[in-house]
Amino acid sequence: MQVVYHDVIIVGAGLAGLRAAVELSGKHDVAVLSKLHPLRSHSGAAQGGISAALGNAEKDSSEWHAYDTIKGSDYLADQYAVEVMCNDAPRAIIELEHLGVPFSRFEDGHIAQRPFGGHTKNFGEAPVRRTCYAADRTGHVCLHTLYEQAVKDKVFFYDEYQVLDLCMADGAVNGVVAIELKTGRFLLFHARAVMFATGGYGKAWKTTSNAFANTGDGLGIVLNNGIPLQDMEFVQFHPTGLYPLGILITEAARGEGGVLRNADGERFMERYAPTIKDLAPRDIVSRSIYDELKEGRGAGPMKDHVLLDLTALSREAIAEKLPEIESFSRIYLGIDPSVTPIPVSPTCHYAMGGIPTDVNGRVLIDAQGKELPGFWAAGEVACVSVHGANRLGSNSLLDLIVFGRRAGKDINRFLDRVLLKPRPLDTGALEKVSRKIEGLLGRKEGETVAAVRTDLQKVMMDKVSVFRNEHGLAAAVEELAVLQGRAAGIRVKDQSKVFNTEILEALELQHMVNYSKAVALCALKRQESRGAHSRDDYPLRDDENHLKHSLFFLKENGEAVYEQKPVDLSLASTRPEFVPKERKY
Ligand code: FUM
Repeated sequence: MQVVYHDVIIVGAGLAGLRAAVELSGKHDVAVLSKLHPLRSHSGAAQGGISAALGNAEKDSSEWHAYDTIKGSDYLADQYAVEVMCNDAPRAIIELEHLGVPFSRFEDGHIAQRPFGGHTKNFGEAPVRRTCYAADRTGHVCLHTLYEQAVKDKVFFYDEYQVLDLCMADGAVNGVVAIELKTGRFLLFHARAVMFATGGYGKAWKTTSNAFANTGDGLGIVLNNGIPLQDMEFVQFHPTGLYPLGILITEAARGEGGVLRNADGERFMERYAPTIKDLAPRDIVSRSIYDELKEGRGAGPMKDHVLLDLTALSREAIAEKLPEIESFSRIYLGIDPSVTPIPVSPTCHYAMGGIPTDVNGRVLIDAQGKELPGFWAAGEVACVSVHGANRLGSNSLLDLIVFGRRAGKDINRFLDRVLLKPRPLDTGALEKVSRKIEGLLGRKEGETVAAVRTDLQKVMMDKVSVFRNEHGLAAAVEELAVLQGRAAGIRVKDQSKVFNTEILEALELQHMVNYSKAVALCALKRQESRGAHSRDDYPLRDDENHLKHSLFFLKENGEAVYEQKPVDLSLASTRPEFVPKERKY
């Protein structure tokens, strides 16, 4: 067993992890571990843009941005955290520009901005152009730029290392256990600070815009260590996944003038959101699409999708502003979107819940806000919470950049002032992990990963997706308990050490089943409809009983514990605009 020391270990090489690494580099010895090559991280799939009230296209303000974010969250976001993010957004964009991000430009040279769902001017009056972009490859260019910066700044990268567990000593985190995929050898990474930026977990659903790697490993690991997850019931379905594959078709397509139509050719969003129409928040547009399908107005022989009509845009405009969308449509469906509307249906896209943190990325382990020393989280794996029950499009890249940087700064402060020597390393986690993997390799009978994963994805898609009810959720919780047992009894056929992806998939599956249980159970307990959580049996928002965050713990014996904690409504206490009210668009 080899022990490697770095001051800081960051797990995950997407935008949150890289932004933190850039902040730490030059000040402390920082290493980034990723199960992929960093440039394969899922941040690179973000298409349409990153929000900030720069006001390059028209008058805008960070206060309007905060209002939209809180209203879009169906009032579950922590208002102070939202204010921190929205106020920092213009600075964050200019910083990215200076680091080298090649943003698209207006004629006058300013960074170009486009409308996106739920972003409005003057507290909901009309859509506003707030989303900065680089054609429809915004995540891709940000990821490349930050990776270049991190390499230039001599951040250590451990590519294709899968983190398997946390190391703890004296009630603090001080390292991780990882496996090097190339050789199958275990390494202990000893550190003074550990940060998780492991991304989202959409792979538990059958139809998703998420990459294969998005199996929620960070969430599974924290659950196994008694750390809670927050607001897991809130999972966002993006309205426009390329039908039937689920690949993201950016909201920017609607921002640039595309409209949704049903089989009758009707622009149906005019009925559901008369003011902002196709640019309503995603939860509303996804539900509207399903309502159209339920009413029999779906397109195609199965009447199971709607159409995204870009034919009002010229071929040149599509090539300039939406080149990825043009190429996905051509490659996967053989259509030219300037001539033929694109078939789309909702696809599992983004997790609002995650590891509870404060605005500096410090991980919080109970409803009273107790910190776990030595441990930070940022990005989609974390729940700050700035997105509450529903995230606005283009607020995700912003969250990654703002809170990745803040976590990096906070770790710098911690290392400078608080802890001079690393706590001694406990090898217990390594022993636990090796026993688990030996158990997997030694098993002579059992199901394949694929069989159990397929059943998991079906349960989540059928019973824990856009519309939910008591009957389906209770059944899902029971079925997930069975799936937990099946996932624990997997048989791995590949016995080799070199690139044994079957072992990894078996471990990923165990994480997927565990966090799925958190999603289903919290959804069952939340007897109201709010944001992305829509209950047929409780169609209204219930602020009296449920204007609260949920916390989910997994005990060592596998028992699930559910708690609630208050939402920070600090802006609402001083400004009437921020008080929870009916959410109309
Ligand atoms: O539609 C999109 O381009 C996705 C952006 C986002 O999720 O923020």
